[in-house]
Amino acid sequence: MIDIHCHLLAGIDDGPSSMDESLALAQYAVERGVTHSVVTPHIHPGRWSNEALTIRSSVDTFKKALADKNIPLIVGMSGELRVGLDALQMVANHQVPFLGKWGSNYVILIEMPHSHIPTGMPQMVQWLMQRNIRPLIAHPERNKDILRNLEKIQPLVDSGCLFQVTAGSIAGRFGSTARDRAVQILEMGIVTVLATDAHNLKRRPPSLDEGRDAAAVIVGAEMANRLVVDNPWKIVSCQFE
Ligand SMILES: [Fe+2]
Repeated sequence: MIDIHCHLLAGIDDGPSSMDESLALAQYAVERGVTHSVVTPHIHPGRWSNEALTIRSSVDTFKKALADKNIPLIVGMSGELRVGLDALQMVANHQVPFLGKWGSNYVILIEMPHSHIPTGMPQMVQWLMQRNIRPLIAHPERNKDILRNLEKIQPLVDSGCLFQVTAGSIAGRFGSTARDRAVQILEMGIVTVLATDAHNLKRRPPSLDEGRDAAAVIVGAEMANRLVVDNPWKIVSCQFE
């Protein structure tokens, strides 16, 4: 399986705080059937000041540590870009690493605030689409506006966004409300990928398999597999060529 949203790098966001913890997360992912993890640290100006250059150097260190410990996880890199004006400036300055491609479009993983869908969201999506960049919206099933009213997702669908649902949401790790929304979004047929959004072993581990298995009950094993293997690979394979 290919996990394209996870926080495995030590000390650069709210993911693991030490290399030992990073390696434990990697080992866990491998044991649960993950072959490739594309790390996506928060890029959130004012809170987590990550960008392509700093992420790359942290990834290089992580890859060396994985090799030293013989942990066979193949690692790619991108970032999880928080919505905002600074975010667009960073994209314009090429400071945000693309996740990969979807057809002829580049893909960026976008995080909205959990509390609401920002009013400027349609403009931001349009700005990105005009630049041949397709937003992949992280965990829409945990956004409070969408939790209150599922119809709030429709303008994002209509504007061409892709959607990443979190494996743990379908498996019930974020409560029954988020689970119900995750299931409904899956049933709408608009989910592009499942990913773990792993941060730590205790509460948010890289358990992509539990999401796949829970999704298989809802959309069937073939589609569930597509969401954790074929579709994520279609996006990120260019990183590994
Ligand atoms: Fe995340």
